[in-house]
Amino acid sequence: MDRRVGRILISRDEIAARVTELGEAIGRDYAGRAPVLVGVLKGAVVFTADLLRAIPMPAAMDFMAVSSYGSGTRSSGVVRLTADLSLSIEGRDVIIVEDVIDSGRTISYLRRNLATRHPRSLALCGLLDKVSRREVEVDVDYVGFVIPDEFVVGYGLDYDGRHRELPDLAVLEPAVPA
Ligand code: PRP
Repeated sequence: MDRRVGRILISRDEIAARVTELGEAIGRDYAGRAPVLVGVLKGAVVFTADLLRAIPMPAAMDFMAVSSYGSGTRSSGVVRLTADLSLSIEGRDVIIVEDVIDSGRTISYLRRNLATRHPRSLALCGLLDKVSRREVEVDVDYVGFVIPDEFVVGYGLDYDGRHRELPDLAVLEPAVPA
């Protein structure tokens, strides 16, 4: 089914204000330390770049890619690593940065995977949390927005590779019949 970009759920100004608050909270919690932000490709790229600049201390940035089998607007729940970090995180304070936490399976896998590498600490920052969709329990240390179970695009989030460039977060809706 074709889909179209509908109403704005969270505007660029609301996003910017919340990212500033998240950066300040991380700055307080990690005072005197230099955390490593681990962004999860591809959806979290935009958020990770903004969060890095909102944190008032030196912070490193790296990325991982994971793939959940399946397509469309739902993940299948089977997760595999498709691109790994370029940095060692042993002894480092790591903050995983996700765009959306849905079933929780991706982040559960990543937390387990990264914990085996002996970081000093491991935290999670998610821009959007669809708590009503949770299948696996996860601790989210920093949450941008709790949102309802709607498919959201923009600010790095895509539908079938499209709409990542939109500056606001918008709801994807069914196409209007011609
Ligand atoms: C999204 C999102 C998370 C995952 C969350 O990634 O970025 O990684 O799904 O879902 P879960 O909690 O049910 O595991 P997506 O597969 O859309 O890939 P992308 O980031 O490359 O767009």
